[in-house]
Amino acid sequence: MSTALEDLIFNPPAELASNANAKPEIYEKANADRLGFWDGLAKELVTWFEPYDNVLDDSNPPFFKWFTNGKLNVSYNCVDRHANSHKKDKVAILYESEIGRKVSLTYGQLYIEVNKFANALKEIGVKKGDRVTLYMPMIPEAAIAMLACTRVGAAHSIVFGGFSSEALRDRINDAQANVLITADGNFRRGKPFPLKANVDKALEDTPSIEKVVVVKNAGNEVSFVEGRDVWYHDVMAKAADYCEPEKMDAEDMLFILYTSGTTGKPKGVVHTTGGYLVQTQATMKYVFDIKEDDIYWCTADIGWITGHSYVIYAPLALGATTFMYDGTVDYPEKNRMWDMAERYGVTVFYTAPTAIRTFMKWGAEYPKKHDLSKIRLLGSVGEPINPEAWMWYRENIGSNKAPIMDTWWQTETGAFMITPLPGITPLKPGTATNPFPGIEVDIIDENGNSVEVGYLVIKSPWPSMLRTVYGDDDRYVDQYWKRFGKYYFAGDGAKRDEMGYIWVTGRVDDVLNVSGHRLGTAEIESALIEVKEVAEAAVIGRKHEVKGEAVCAFVILKEGVNNSPELIDKMKKHVATKIGALARPDDIIITADLPKTRSGKIMRRLLRDIAEGRAVGDTTTLADPNVMANLKDKYADTEH
Ligand code: WTA
Repeated sequence: MSTALEDLIFNPPAELASNANAKPEIYEKANADRLGFWDGLAKELVTWFEPYDNVLDDSNPPFFKWFTNGKLNVSYNCVDRHANSHKKDKVAILYESEIGRKVSLTYGQLYIEVNKFANALKEIGVKKGDRVTLYMPMIPEAAIAMLACTRVGAAHSIVFGGFSSEALRDRINDAQANVLITADGNFRRGKPFPLKANVDKALEDTPSIEKVVVVKNAGNEVSFVEGRDVWYHDVMAKAADYCEPEKMDAEDMLFILYTSGTTGKPKGVVHTTGGYLVQTQATMKYVFDIKEDDIYWCTADIGWITGHSYVIYAPLALGATTFMYDGTVDYPEKNRMWDMAERYGVTVFYTAPTAIRTFMKWGAEYPKKHDLSKIRLLGSVGEPINPEAWMWYRENIGSNKAPIMDTWWQTETGAFMITPLPGITPLKPGTATNPFPGIEVDIIDENGNSVEVGYLVIKSPWPSMLRTVYGDDDRYVDQYWKRFGKYYFAGDGAKRDEMGYIWVTGRVDDVLNVSGHRLGTAEIESALIEVKEVAEAAVIGRKHEVKGEAVCAFVILKEGVNNSPELIDKMKKHVATKIGALARPDDIIITADLPKTRSGKIMRRLLRDIAEGRAVGDTTTLADPNVMANLKDKYADTEH
């Protein structure tokens, strides 16, 4: 009899278990005294300039404070304390670009770069409390810029380089940033991509920006605005090489990161300094089991939370070696990733299910060309990982031995929340297993009762939690705390199995997960409605073999407008211009009607049934039940 993949159990490798950073007592310790557990980690993992008074201040929920009145600096923790130790000559950042530029920075060298750029930022007017927007490729200068911001006490707001100029403009304006850091461009499939041109367009309408720092990276022609734009290498050449790190309060803002929500306007998720540095390090130390000689590679872009927490802050704070690659995964060949993993001797590798499915589609012959035997631990993040991809990942990248850490978390949680521990947890393909020690989660129904299948909630505050939505405390409360009162609602559904493991099943709100990237249906709909021929639009995610979900739009055209391939193309292009190529709809279905309730709410669930070829569910609440039959025909007629 064959066993379903999701019922297989993989016990921790004995050698890993006996040397693991986390031993089984960790759960008992955290359960016995949750705040004491975090207190111990905060003392062990962070160098404080001044000690904190309280581990947690929960007097004004949901505005929680951690490590109150503690003083620290993140760049000091990520750089100075290692540069001043035996780690001075240890490599902090390893970097390779698509076209083969290589950089290796030791902690000692990184220290100098960060200090100089911090001084350069001060010189151009950045002060403690300011917001600085970064729109950068995955280059070492991006890491330096992030750390330099934290050194002078400015909050960074990183906008993913794949976002459009309009998306960039909106995020600059929301944060009221006074400085933008960018690059002339980067390379995609060997061709320069004009980042600075997007910047120039965005800055036509961003009155708060006073200065733009440009890193010379691609070497392409760029236009400079006199008095506003400066080259990174010019300001660095003049900068002094020591900058006193600001003493930041544990609750001072560390960064803003915009993420999609259920309305058209992205939310600026606010993270603060102390708790974030504690939980990112703790999770990295125990889940990725980081050791002195590890070469760690997380493939996320710094434009996403994974890039913040697990490419930069956690690995550097722990004094590890972090590898950054700026480029496409199949350039020049489909073995690019494995070629680099072998050349750099990568030991811990962290990526997303969508990437794994892509590699799977290309075939095992690409990783097989390379010696990946040093990889001892794997990670997965971004969406539920299907058991087939999990098995392929283990066999072909993990040499059939490396445990896979399926880490569930969000931009809002800042760090891992549900995850196995590599020396302790028996793994099953497709589940993130248990809450991290010191984290309390539950699965509940509409009424808040604990159930086996339902909504995933977090029951008590955690150190790296978001503190608010930038400039909008009400939205923070409404979005995350209103539905279940004292519990944080994550927006995901989940179920529990007989071992008590948690299986996250995906979003239950109007948020799509395309290739591990979050997109709001409302954002895409409002972009479509801007096309003058469009009367109404409803966007859903339909299952996609590689991307997880594909963007599928149902569109009603205005009276008298005829459908044409040019019009479909125009709509797709507009979404890409408005938000970014990642949001470009895969299918656009022109329809005369949309399924709506009598109160006018679009029933996206029914649209999903159509797009995924299922029998259409309950339609009794529809204002006009005939709509569904028409829509089904339309969908069948549309190419997708
Ligand atoms: C999904 C990424 C299942 C989930 C760190 C969550 C996952 C959203 C997993 C957050 C996982 C992330 N298993 N689902 N291991 N990891 N998700 O903010 O729906 O970009 O709410 O943060 O991704 O996406 P975000």
